[in-house]
Amino acid sequence: MSLSVRFNNIVKDFGPVRVLHGVDFALKPGRVVGLLGENGAGKSTLMKILAGYERVTAGQLLIDGVPRHFADAREAEKLGISLIHQEFNLAEHLTIAQNIFLGHEKTRGLLLDREAMSREAATYLAQVGLDVDPDTRVSELIVAEKQLVEIAKALSRKARLLIMDEPTASLSPGETVRLFELMSRLKSEGVTIVYISHKLDEMEAHTDEVVVMRDGSFVTRAATADVDRRQMANLMVGRDVSDMFPPKKYVTPDAPALLRVTDLIVPGWVENLSFEVRAGEILGFAGLVGAGRTEAFEALLGLRKKSAGLVELEGRAVDIRDPRDAMELGFTYLSEDRKGKGLHVDLGLRENLTMMTLEKYAHPWLDLNAGRAALDKAIHDFGIRLRDRDCAARSLSGGNQQKLALAKYLHSNPRVIVLDEPTRGVDVGAKRDIYALIHRLAAEGRAVVVISSELIELIGLSHRVAVLHGGHLQAMLGPDQLTEENLIAHATNTHHS
Ligand SMILES: Nc1ncnc2c1ncn2[C@@H]1O[C@H](COP(=O)(O)OP(=O)(O)OP(=O)(O)O)[C@@H](O)[C@H]1O
Ligand SMILES: [Mg+2]
Repeated sequence: MSLSVRFNNIVKDFGPVRVLHGVDFALKPGRVVGLLGENGAGKSTLMKILAGYERVTAGQLLIDGVPRHFADAREAEKLGISLIHQEFNLAEHLTIAQNIFLGHEKTRGLLLDREAMSREAATYLAQVGLDVDPDTRVSELIVAEKQLVEIAKALSRKARLLIMDEPTASLSPGETVRLFELMSRLKSEGVTIVYISHKLDEMEAHTDEVVVMRDGSFVTRAATADVDRRQMANLMVGRDVSDMFPPKKYVTPDAPALLRVTDLIVPGWVENLSFEVRAGEILGFAGLVGAGRTEAFEALLGLRKKSAGLVELEGRAVDIRDPRDAMELGFTYLSEDRKGKGLHVDLGLRENLTMMTLEKYAHPWLDLNAGRAALDKAIHDFGIRLRDRDCAARSLSGGNQQKLALAKYLHSNPRVIVLDEPTRGVDVGAKRDIYALIHRLAAEGRAVVVISSELIELIGLSHRVAVLHGGHLQAMLGPDQLTEENLIAHATNTHHS
């Protein structure tokens, strides 16, 4: 029942730009294959070809020895190939059940059988552990829930080959564990799985084999048992990447608090949250999905209603109605929902970069040259990898979209910076660049808040970490309390001191 797949010299051009340069390797059936590569290496593009979302420019795709040219994803699905998209591919205005059965609607006679679809959708949601009514509109879901719906949708297609493109990027630890259980069940049923992730510990623990791509080509493959994390990182980047985190700079005791929040209440999410971040400080925020971290900062930015709370920026009480207000006060927030809130993916890179600070470029007509120069600088400073400066943000790889979003939100030169999952979907090399950038921002005397689900990242970066649980500040951990055990214990409220 397993599928065998062979990529035969696959070439892919987007217009004048070649992104796959003759990729050549086979996927062994019935195994979990990890696909590794830096941002922009071509992983998603290759998998979209396999799943019928993109067509090859040259080369051949062999499925069970037969050459195939899929006209669309449905043809690939008919053979049992299913892709869980990195950038979700859900129709926001439809319900969960409608999304799951989109193009595969169940009918009774001539009518849609909504009840049967909702019922069956519920069983897939249960398998991925999403406890939400299948008739909920997708637009009402948070990022992690959308990811789980993507997975449920793939399950409903009964794939023989399942491609997961960074499925855990936005999942909580509990949801991640459940996903891996699901993965090993599917594997035992003979499903071949291609697993893409920048989380190398997951690669180590859950794949049988890793395949490495670099710059649009196949580089090497290895049995997972034969390589460790460090070697995987070096293979993808093609150079040594140790020392992910720069040494922490000491925050002087007299450094002023740039952001102070007192007794913030966000109905349904956050209760009496108080904290401060000082100039030069990196404050981490840990907690499970739903702990209220994102909601707290959305409320501070005026994106969500708060019922109480005093907010002071550089010692002055402020009233922030929306993110533009905040930006004018030197306070910026990069949302975790990159596609939904961070970037306008249909616009160009320059438009995205300068959109929030347009005044700077209007004298009074729009100074395009200055905008272009700013883009060049951002591409350089943030290490954005692209082939074409005039493309839409949509055509950047996932990790490079994240770097563009960072550049966009830092473009206004803020004093207080909140980064929500800043390295989600970013490869090891680029991660190290972003960590160095965060340190530089702090060293320049700004206050930085990092919300992250990666404990190693919080520990490696932060001076202190605030741990939220169920909307409460469970602990504020100082430098010598920053261990994974401590963070997990407080985040799950199982700490006994
Ligand atoms: N629709 C498109 N139009 C133009 N260029 C594209 C398009 N899709 C992808 N590319 C380019 O192809 C290259 C490979 O992108 P791809 O998304 O496959 O990378 P990736 O390995 O999945 O990276 P990441 O780890 O960041 O997700 C990138 O340079 C990207 O900018
Ligand atoms: Mg990708």
